[in-house]
Amino acid sequence: MCGINGYVGKGRDAALRALDGILKLKYRGYDSAGIVFQNGGEPVILKVVGDPVNLEQRLSSFNLESSIAIAHNRWATHGVPSEENAHPHSDCTGTIFLVHNGIIENYRELRDELIAKGHVFRSQTDTEVAVHLVEEWYVKGKTSLEFAVKNAIARLRGKWAFLIYTSDDPETLIATRFGSPLLLGIGEDGYYAASSAAPFVGRAENFILLEDGDTALLNGQVTIFDQEGRQITREAKKLDWELETAQRGGFPHFMLKEIFDQPDAISNSMAGRINPSGEIKFEELDGVDFGEVGRILIIGCGTSYFAGRQVENLFEEIAEIPAKTELASEFRYRSPVLCKNDLAIFISQSGETTDTYEALQVVKNHGVATVGIVNVMNSSIARELDRVIYQRVGLEIGVASTKAFSSQVVILMLLAFHIARSRGKKNAGEKAVDELLKIPVKIGEVLRCSEQLQKLAEKYYKHKNFFFIGRKNGFAIANEGALKLKEVSYVHAEGYGAGEMKHGPIALIDPSFVTLAIAPEDSVYRNMISNINEVRARKGRVISLATEGDGDIGKISDDVVYLPETIEELYPFLEIVALQLFAYYFAVALQYNPDQPRNLAKSVTVE
Ligand code: F6R
Repeated sequence: MCGINGYVGKGRDAALRALDGILKLKYRGYDSAGIVFQNGGEPVILKVVGDPVNLEQRLSSFNLESSIAIAHNRWATHGVPSEENAHPHSDCTGTIFLVHNGIIENYRELRDELIAKGHVFRSQTDTEVAVHLVEEWYVKGKTSLEFAVKNAIARLRGKWAFLIYTSDDPETLIATRFGSPLLLGIGEDGYYAASSAAPFVGRAENFILLEDGDTALLNGQVTIFDQEGRQITREAKKLDWELETAQRGGFPHFMLKEIFDQPDAISNSMAGRINPSGEIKFEELDGVDFGEVGRILIIGCGTSYFAGRQVENLFEEIAEIPAKTELASEFRYRSPVLCKNDLAIFISQSGETTDTYEALQVVKNHGVATVGIVNVMNSSIARELDRVIYQRVGLEIGVASTKAFSSQVVILMLLAFHIARSRGKKNAGEKAVDELLKIPVKIGEVLRCSEQLQKLAEKYYKHKNFFFIGRKNGFAIANEGALKLKEVSYVHAEGYGAGEMKHGPIALIDPSFVTLAIAPEDSVYRNMISNINEVRARKGRVISLATEGDGDIGKISDDVVYLPETIEELYPFLEIVALQLFAYYFAVALQYNPDQPRNLAKSVTVE
């Protein structure tokens, strides 16, 4: 977690550029923030607790003539969110400055060692040891900052992406990484270095991905050294994110914009992968033989995990391959029995989730073939996979994942059909593919009900306990809907298999408990009706998600949201949009900012 961004170049507004970048990285953390830049030749450090936007006002009292600045958004791991723990950190002389994304594992022993040598620490963070270590090796006029950084990082264990400069040479920025992502943006009038490409949008046309162990010197040119100290060249790539995708486009929050993006997001994820005759083709999988696959493992965290749960049954039903979805955070610590003919499918929007990354290493160590569904191009996970299917949904900025989920589900479904067809089931998913092409339009119809969902949220926002229940295709959606509500609204929301209610949870039902029942007209509709009746019999309140034209469900529900008719497997695309809107408006009714839920960050790069 944490976001870092720095700029050095001809522009004199470096501080504003560095700040703008961390505002675009707010999804990586926002419990505190800080920046350092030069003011009249002297370094100025500003820090705030809470939203980095608060730095804007603090900056307005300076004349902002700096050509170098580094900035940081924090998601606390070591030490509470406070100004003293916020980055940048500086050395004892106040001339070396550093921001960090990652974790220094051996910081305790290094801190004791440095304190014994006379260094004075001002924070409780793991990061601060790094800047004091640089200080140990840096002697103004005698050793270079680059030399000092190289020696300092040789002492570290853990993960880091550092941006470092010294006020003795405010024309040079050092960027170095190991285990945490770090990219260089190449702009017309200077260089950027950041945790993701988001800060480069509209500022740098090309970017370079640093590899583990790389150190880059940015000082009018880019010079990169690898871990062995050899000067190397890393290929610059064109940035293909559009400015528009990084902006709210008139919506009050990114979460709402991204919910409304879903018809396009799903269309983009399908584009080129279904041809007019209904054939499914994944160029990314050219040459892969699925004939021998004996088992499919789908691995991810949070929403990405639920996307896997949503589709795993389809792999069994249509492709007739045993399939199981695993939580990466559990899987990585187990001793799984893996076979050579397993296929592991990793799902990660950010491509940076540590648990998913580590689970991928476990699978790779067993020699198992890996395919991934990833949104962020060239991310750490994407680079480790055998094959990557990119989601193509553009930046997802809202912390609560919305459009990425729908896209993951659609890609997984196409993959299930593709694998089934490549194993001789020629027409697998034929009807579903026809109907999938109509889903973006049907999602549009659900989006047109947003006012109804807003009213519902405003009716129920004072309730503190919610069940989301569903069966079969509604099971994973129930869990994902509950996750959305709890993460943005901080109310107790539990996703449950509707059939499981009577095995315990139904004891909780009373008139204050609200149950969202996912009950489209599908093969488990009758069972869902029984489960709704059971809740009603205990005086629980029920909001049902049902198929348009269902004349009965209104009689046993307090409220009903009607969804357009589709086939059984595809109702989840419509249900999740309704549940996302409900969660969004619920948070807004409680006056929370759904884009920045407390205690969360979008990329979870810690354990
Ligand atoms: C919830 C949410 C998280 C992520 C999870 C995995 O709305 O966004 O649960 O889904 O942290 O993230 P990725 O997909 O980036 O690996």
